Amino acid sequence: MSDRKPYVGGNWKMNTSVDTSSSLARGVVDACESAQGSVDIVVFPPAPYLIGVKSILRSRPTSIATGAQDLYFEADGAFTGEISVAMVKDCGCGHALAGHSERRHVIGESDELVNAKVRATLEGGLTCVLCIGETLEEREAGETNAVNERQLRTGLADVGLRQMDKVVIAYEPVWAIGTGKTASPEDAQAAHAFIRGLLAEMFSDEVAQRTRIIYGGSVKPSNAAALFGQPDIDGGLIGGASLKVEDFAAIVKAAAPH
Ligand code: PGA
Repeated sequence: MSDRKPYVGGNWKMNTSVDTSSSLARGVVDACESAQGSVDIVVFPPAPYLIGVKSILRSRPTSIATGAQDLYFEADGAFTGEISVAMVKDCGCGHALAGHSERRHVIGESDELVNAKVRATLEGGLTCVLCIGETLEEREAGETNAVNERQLRTGLADVGLRQMDKVVIAYEPVWAIGTGKTASPEDAQAAHAFIRGLLAEMFSDEVAQRTRIIYGGSVKPSNAAALFGQPDIDGGLIGGASLKVEDFAAIVKAAAPH
């Protein structure tokens, strides 16, 4: 890994309850204590539990941050069921995901909607984790780079050079998410290097070198070190394993520079 500070996110998805989100947050704080200074650690609980989790984190000496799994790009108004950037900030969150593959492929979000969310997130001053990645069909058709390029370029359309300080890219091949199949460290590295090259073209070499590009898709304690050991992999976005304190802590530890 380079001198980019590693970023590890725990995406809890539609899991936990009032009780278990609290105990998971407490467990993560205790188990990740030693890595806190050297890794940006962010948990993404379901929206109803954001305030509860944040209040637990605030009551402890920790730098672990909270983020929203999704938000809507409009400021307020008649958008039943949606949550705004201001609401997310009001809950104490400094981060938000955009374009997670489950939102793209299960809920049906377009590249353009993802871009509107990215811009609203950045305009609100939050760190935006833009998720991109190809499906198995697209990979088998040889379209991996084309899909990642389209999702990256559209996702970051009209994002300014300076706003890139608050952007993290998560490369998550859809076929590896929640399936137990992980991209090999070499395949993941190739995709990350390709994405970094695109960032240099779209913004500048400096932006490309500074931007964290993290990997997601069945990251576990057993494969984390090999993935994070690749030169262009700057951490991970962790789904299933983020629900188990010991597994998440082991993954965070694997991301810490040593
Ligand atoms: P997974 O999910 O670790 O369960 O594969 C990753 C993600 O969806 O961010």
